[in-house]
Amino acid sequence: MKPPRKLHIKSYGCQMNVYDAQRMVDTLAPEGFVETDSAEDADLVILNTCHIREKASEKVYSELGRLRVAKDEAARNGREMRIAVAGCVAQAEGEEIVRRAPTVDVVVGPQSYHHLPQLLARAKSEGRALETEFPVDDKFGFLPQPKPDAIRARGISAFVTVQEGCDKFCTFCVVPYTRGAEVSRPVAKIVDDVKRLAENGVREITLIGQNVNAYHGEGPDGRTWPLGKLLHRLAEIEGIVRLRYSTSHPRDVEETLIAAHRDLAALMPFVHLPVQSGSDRILAAMNRKHTADDYRRVIDRFRTARQDIAFSSDFIVGFPGETEGEFAATLALVMQIGYAGAYSFKYSPRPGTPAADMQETVSAAEMDDRLVRLQELIDTQQSAFNKAMIGETVDVLFERAARNPGQIVGRTAYLQPAHVFASPDIIGQVLPVSIASLERYSLLGELAGGAARPAPSILPQLTGA
Ligand code: SAH
Ligand code: SF4
Ligand code: F3S
Repeated sequence: MKPPRKLHIKSYGCQMNVYDAQRMVDTLAPEGFVETDSAEDADLVILNTCHIREKASEKVYSELGRLRVAKDEAARNGREMRIAVAGCVAQAEGEEIVRRAPTVDVVVGPQSYHHLPQLLARAKSEGRALETEFPVDDKFGFLPQPKPDAIRARGISAFVTVQEGCDKFCTFCVVPYTRGAEVSRPVAKIVDDVKRLAENGVREITLIGQNVNAYHGEGPDGRTWPLGKLLHRLAEIEGIVRLRYSTSHPRDVEETLIAAHRDLAALMPFVHLPVQSGSDRILAAMNRKHTADDYRRVIDRFRTARQDIAFSSDFIVGFPGETEGEFAATLALVMQIGYAGAYSFKYSPRPGTPAADMQETVSAAEMDDRLVRLQELIDTQQSAFNKAMIGETVDVLFERAARNPGQIVGRTAYLQPAHVFASPDIIGQVLPVSIASLERYSLLGELAGGAARPAPSILPQLTGA
């Protein structure tokens, strides 16, 4: 075992990055690295970056400016600090990062995390190391498994990557360039991962992928399995009480996935299904390859299979050429669907994407105005959705002690945090809670004792089903 060294990882962006950060920790653990919360006294700082919008991307450089000061300070104290940039900015910008921030020692793209130990050794001997290729080897096969104590420390809810990359090429989006073509992991490997997590206390699994329902992994029968079939298999694993998946694309909602929502009690009735816009002309310009009506039909199929299902979504306002009328179509769609929550973003032109060459017609002021109007509508829906829980009895999976002494916090099927006064013994269990009140986004209640009703009766009305 090597002498202990301190590692600090800061992640931006999507759940895939959160998951990747854990894999990097697991890869570096055998090298003697242990995680620390503070960048200042770390021997290695990794910025796990996101390129999706300009703001996210530029954040890296301000962070690197701060780290340069910390690195110089460490050097004055005779201590060596190394700085690595990982994630999607590393992939997209490569050497440009070193040009703008010479303090960086390692640049590593998302496909090369299993090479981190070698890259660090190279940075030591050669002064710097860069790797942003899409290698032919399967990085999943090379990444070490987390140790049981690491799994336990991470809690009862875990992410598992099942699919990476995207072949959709929406005209605004960098992901197909930063994460490469779609690749699915074989069913057997995912089953092994989930079993190992379950054996070490994990109760809830979120399957992640940039386009998770495009999953088409090799099954143990030699056939290609869709996501729905994978979910059926994972639901059989002892200890797993909740399954989720994210992020899905409306074009890849197969019948097996709908069937999984109908048949599997463990599959949570909460689906993140981004639509981006309610205007068919804008959807076409975005290359989403579906209309607003196609999306409505997909939502209807889910609702027919499971009446208590709720949705969240992503929206972009101010895409090049978006008129006021086209934006109004987005508001209309949101009103029709009725969301439990949603993320909305101002369009951000990204270098190298087709939309970056389109003429931007929406002024900054108009974009701000549309964002505010959309967010107000979504907020109204979200708080109505949350308020509808008051007086209901809902199942909560308890996760950890809350900040408030004596309280334990968990989550409902819809990911709402729910607090009760109870003994920590309930952590890891799903128990019915009668909800008494709502404080901002957090529900408060009492353990109900009896069996939970399957769904709050008010939900279908609220979500427009
Ligand atoms: N795979 C997912 C989205 C991944 S990116 C999907 O297809 O829906 C997450 C969200 O970021 C997108 O849904 C979109 O709303 C937003 N986004 C992506 N590129 C953007 C850009 N150039 N400007 C503004 N928002 C963007
Ligand atoms: Fe980006 Fe579109 Fe792929 Fe989602 S489906 S990751 S928005 S290209
Ligand atoms: Fe960002 Fe890359 Fe995820 S660009 S959203 S970190 S796939």
